[in-house]
Amino acid sequence: MVAPRLVQEVFTEFAADVRWGLTKPGQKEIPSKYLYDEVGSALFEVITVLPEYGLFRADERLLRQNAEAISAKLSPRPLVAVELGSGSGRKTRWMLEALARRQPTVYHPIEISSKALDQCSRELGRLHNVEVRPVQQPYLAGLLSVAAARQPHEQLLVLFLGSTIGNFNSSAAERFLADVRQALTAGDALLLSADLEKPAAQLLPAYDDPLGVTASFNLNVLARMNRELEAEFDLSTFRHLARYNAAERRIEMHLLSTRAQSVPIPRAGCSASFVEGETIWTESSHKYCPREVIEMGRRSGFRPLRQWIDPEWPFAQTLFLAE
Ligand SMILES: C[S@@+](CC[C@H](N)C(=O)[O-])C[C@H]1O[C@@H](n2cnc3c(N)ncnc32)[C@H](O)[C@@H]1O
Repeated sequence: MVAPRLVQEVFTEFAADVRWGLTKPGQKEIPSKYLYDEVGSALFEVITVLPEYGLFRADERLLRQNAEAISAKLSPRPLVAVELGSGSGRKTRWMLEALARRQPTVYHPIEISSKALDQCSRELGRLHNVEVRPVQQPYLAGLLSVAAARQPHEQLLVLFLGSTIGNFNSSAAERFLADVRQALTAGDALLLSADLEKPAAQLLPAYDDPLGVTASFNLNVLARMNRELEAEFDLSTFRHLARYNAAERRIEMHLLSTRAQSVPIPRAGCSASFVEGETIWTESSHKYCPREVIEMGRRSGFRPLRQWIDPEWPFAQTLFLAE
């Protein structure tokens, strides 16, 4: 007798998230982490040098100006720097150089994008007195694995730069910081970057540049579904849309279907149906006021030590100690 064949559909996490996000009732969505495959990470690097993307330069200016002051506020114990979502780590160089002037520094960039991680290891691996140990894992899993391997006398400095915290909604951001705190020991430090509220007319071009790089970055998630899930998205029938949601104080990036259509996504075991004008929500960038960042850190178990604000492109870096 022939045993019945067990037919089991095995979906990747990407496929499962796509299936959930594109077939649920109401607003369609895809988590923003899927924007960063090899193509997406390369496009994000281009975004960081666009004149309209002022937040990258503000973050870098603050690091360049204050890295010594930040380093002086840390304990003289051996230090392990951990960066959540490092990207290429280009601006982290300023912080690592300041730390390495005091003592040998181990640096763990934590990334889901292998492309970004490779670039980061190349960029920062050449710094004097810095040892780069890349971790290809999601934020918290990576942080927990670094924390588990730490020596008791070491201090951890967690860097969460680029205002990536703004990709979470407010309650999720606070839960995330509380989870980060849980992974740490009292006396560890957190340097948190957050983009601040500013007029929509200044913000919007940062997410909808005239060259169309951000549009390509956003549309790439459709191309990624075509590549990895055998989806049949026709990119010419979708349009990049960036809008400021004033009530929620966030920029939202969407992909708008310019016509009614149904798109097969075989490796996610579904089709996505769109009416004309319907959107897929792909990313949020929450904008903060300075006090809010301090209070959010406090409620998550951190004591604020100091906050620096860039006057040219209002942007805050806040240094906290785990209590
Ligand atoms: C907005 S970019 C910021 C990059 C860099 N920190 C900067 O300031 O330019 C976010 C980075 O986080 C990474 N990322 C997104 N979600 C992640 C996750 N859940 N775990 C680890 N890395 C993630 C992305 O691959 C991307 O490189």
